[in-house]
Amino acid sequence: MRIVLLGAPGSGKGTQSQRLVERLGIPQVSSGDLLRAAVARGTELGRRAKEAMDGGRLVDDSLVLQMIRERLGAGDTRRGFILDGFPRTLAQAEALERLLRDLTQPLDAVVQLEVDAAELVRRISGRRCCADCGRVFNLFTSPRAAIESELCPRTGAPHRLTQRPDDNEATVAERLRVYEEKTRPLIDFYRARGLLRVIDAMGDVEEVSRRLSQALGAPALRAARAAKSATRRAPHRTGARRKAAQPKSARRRPKSATGRAARRGKARAGLRVNTRGKSPRTTRAGQGRPKGKPR
Ligand code: AP5
Repeated sequence: MRIVLLGAPGSGKGTQSQRLVERLGIPQVSSGDLLRAAVARGTELGRRAKEAMDGGRLVDDSLVLQMIRERLGAGDTRRGFILDGFPRTLAQAEALERLLRDLTQPLDAVVQLEVDAAELVRRISGRRCCADCGRVFNLFTSPRAAIESELCPRTGAPHRLTQRPDDNEATVAERLRVYEEKTRPLIDFYRARGLLRVIDAMGDVEEVSRRLSQALGAPALRAARAAKSATRRAPHRTGARRKAAQPKSARRRPKSATGRAARRGKARAGLRVNTRGKSPRTTRAGQGRPKGKPR
């Protein structure tokens, strides 16, 4: 599925995208995360984006479009993607439409998450992110002690909670203003194309996830089922990758003298030698099975 999540800052786009990633097995493409990563790496894009981000303004369309074009060109988006925080202006929406037309990958749905202004401010002021793994928490929905007692998958130590630099009062006010002026018009843009679904995104995360799944409807259900069965089949397909991830000592097959002797003995006796899944070279002494013939 190719999905856009629209909504004001703090409406839960990132939170719901991550849940969809797990359910549908397609990547989240978050323009905010990509820009923050560029700022952290100190790239030219990051340098040019930082000032706008710190002030709560939008980064130049041309910079963002270039970044998104590259990201959507990556192989992992072929089965679908969830766009979070992009598009944010009419120019970006039109450019996205052209890009996806060229790729013959049109959008399936655009979901607008509706949250009232007081709740947006409350969610943003309670947001904390782990400085190491980037996971997003909220102090109002999960108490600090509970969050800190959990271990970060990156460091194995408790999460180090930080507040985003643009989550301060003045910047949040500007981000909300910019949203109303530049991004809200996209609701009509996508309604006119028959792609828009609006959901009430007040209430707890689970409840909102349920409404989102309903809004995405049958295609999302099918995608979730396909993702689940792909995960079930994955151990066979990714055996080589899992093996590569193991320490060498665990990968090596035991080559005990007794094991080798046993294999030699079996071969001498004309019994099937351990062929590690390849076509057996010997079935009975002297009776090689020609390739492709059934046993
Ligand atoms: P970006 O990172 O995209 O910020 P945003 O759009 O302002 O959205 P947020 O990340 O603040 O909120 P969210 O909706 O993802 O909410 P979340 O799930 O985290 O952009 C940052 C900046 O980058 C922009 O200001 C701009 O400068 C630049 N930029 C980005 N994209 C751009 C573009 N396309 N063009 C130009 N410039 C661009 O949830 C918030 C909190 O609430 C969390 O703590 C979460 O745990 C909690 N929460 C979530 N759901 C619930 C719930 N149902 N109940 C209670 N708490 C909840």
